[in-house]
Amino acid sequence: MGQLDGKTAVVTGGSSGIGLATAKRFIEEGARVFIVGRRQAQLDAAVTSLGDRAAGIQADVSNLDDLDRVFETVRNEAGRVDTLFANAGGGSGVVAIDDITVGMYEKVFGANVRGTLFTVQKALPLMSDGGSIVITGSTSASRGHIGFGVYSASKAAVRQLTRVWAAELAPRGIRVNTITPGPTDTPGIRGIAGGDPVREQALLAGMAAKIPLGRMGTPAEVANAVLFLASDQASFMTGAEVFVDGGDAQVLK
Ligand SMILES: NC(=O)c1ccc[n+]([C@@H]2O[C@H](COP(=O)([O-])OP(=O)(O)OC[C@H]3O[C@@H](n4cnc5c(N)ncnc54)[C@H](OP(=O)(O)O)[C@@H]3O)[C@@H](O)[C@H]2O)c1
Repeated sequence: MGQLDGKTAVVTGGSSGIGLATAKRFIEEGARVFIVGRRQAQLDAAVTSLGDRAAGIQADVSNLDDLDRVFETVRNEAGRVDTLFANAGGGSGVVAIDDITVGMYEKVFGANVRGTLFTVQKALPLMSDGGSIVITGSTSASRGHIGFGVYSASKAAVRQLTRVWAAELAPRGIRVNTITPGPTDTPGIRGIAGGDPVREQALLAGMAAKIPLGRMGTPAEVANAVLFLASDQASFMTGAEVFVDGGDAQVLK
């Protein structure tokens, strides 16, 4: 018997990296999964790899009309949401204070904060009592990394929203938790190197060297912890933050 048998899940950012690995894990445990992303070709490829219990909905989570369309589609096709993984987002590279632009700020806060906030708000009317929401944070929000001001502030914001929503949604038995990955080998993080393979290897090696366990995480390792938070195994957890970071934010190396 699967841990999510009969459940309906929505995974934003489900076409790549951590979201895609989580959609796969949810399906292995019996869920039907709607994945959300902006690029149609990526969504189509992801749905093909996930099989017939997956469906793709093209949308930008920072666009409220898109979000209305996402949950209208889910309502029509499944009638409810049991598990929401609000994961879509990303950064804008390494940019120190002098070089931050309004455009960068709008893009990062648009996806990570506005996108997360309104994804949750618009999912709630469809969410079953006793459901589970998992939100993607980042170890960047746990310390001061040069050049990560906008990104880490956006992830600190969603971590705090998790606490507030855990309180607000407790009467409905809806649990809200943050999953906090450390450096994880995904297309998104490799993208920081801008497609230059030499820079990419140096970037990955540099990140791995700083992690106490001596390597980057895999999307599947993060997905296992998201599954735990989404499932009844975590039935007494809400407002919490679970780090999957090889010790990165916890101990000095
Ligand atoms: N990888 C890491 O080391 C790491 C560490 C800590 C936290 N995180 C967080 O983990 C989450 C997933 O990152 P990842 O590393 O798996 O990156 P990824 O491989 O680039 O995947 C990001 C996913 O989000 C989607 N997405 C991005 N912006 C979106 C938007 N505005 N609307 C809808 N979908 C959007 C992407 O699809 P489209 O581009 O087609 O929209 C893609 O499916 C992010 O929130 C990231 O900040 C990652």
